[in-house]
Amino acid sequence: MMNTPESRVPLIAGNWKMHKTIAEATALAQAVRDGISNPPPAEVVLAPPFTALAAVAQVLSGSPIQLAAQNTFWERHGAYTGEISPQMLVDAGCQYVIIGHSERRQYFGETNDTVNRKITAALSAGLKPIVCIGETLKEREARETLGRISNQIQEGLAGLTAGQVERLVMAYEPVWAIGTGRTATPQQAQEVHAFIRQLLQDHFGAQVAGSLRLLYGGSVTPDNIRELIGEPDIDGALVGGASLKADSFLCLAALGQR
Ligand code: PGA
Repeated sequence: MMNTPESRVPLIAGNWKMHKTIAEATALAQAVRDGISNPPPAEVVLAPPFTALAAVAQVLSGSPIQLAAQNTFWERHGAYTGEISPQMLVDAGCQYVIIGHSERRQYFGETNDTVNRKITAALSAGLKPIVCIGETLKEREARETLGRISNQIQEGLAGLTAGQVERLVMAYEPVWAIGTGRTATPQQAQEVHAFIRQLLQDHFGAQVAGSLRLLYGGSVTPDNIRELIGEPDIDGALVGGASLKADSFLCLAALGQR
């Protein structure tokens, strides 16, 4: 296998989506914290819903596990009823924030432009964005996958400097693989990951492209993670369903190393 730069420590992130009460989230975070080996085999990040962030931050405090929010707004404060700023996420104990998840693009009007604003705002608040991109089934069947990815990168990362992009984690999540049990094959995922890295190299240089972590997401389970992470351009996973139970997530974290 080719050598990967040290900056590309595998990262396994659990996206809990709209699941878990505060009590349930606290219990799951405790089980993950207590079950993880120290030092952890991979970098591990949990993304509970907003309501549970502060409680989970307390559980994770002093552990190597990091905390992510699932979304953010781009303004710092103001009359934006229902929104949460990056500064508020830092205050709640987050180090990471997921931006542009396909469910937000699909159901909540997220666009490449809003993704772009959110990335800039998150970075200036000191958060590390996990930026999601990916094609729909219709786009894949119409052979528009690479065009779609290219558009999401060009518009989503527009105006960012190489220094800013270097601080991102990106996640390739084909929409047809999310929550469907239909994982991309390692070859399909690797093909797009290599394409993303090439695009990043064209726009931001070889140093950034070589050091940025690219996660795969979409029906990742303990049964398929080894194959996926065995691909040279896959640096970890963004996991939905299999992150909701401590045993499967701990298994993923243990297997999610090179
Ligand atoms: P899934 O979700 O693992 O349940 O497919 C992945 C995601 O949406 O990040």
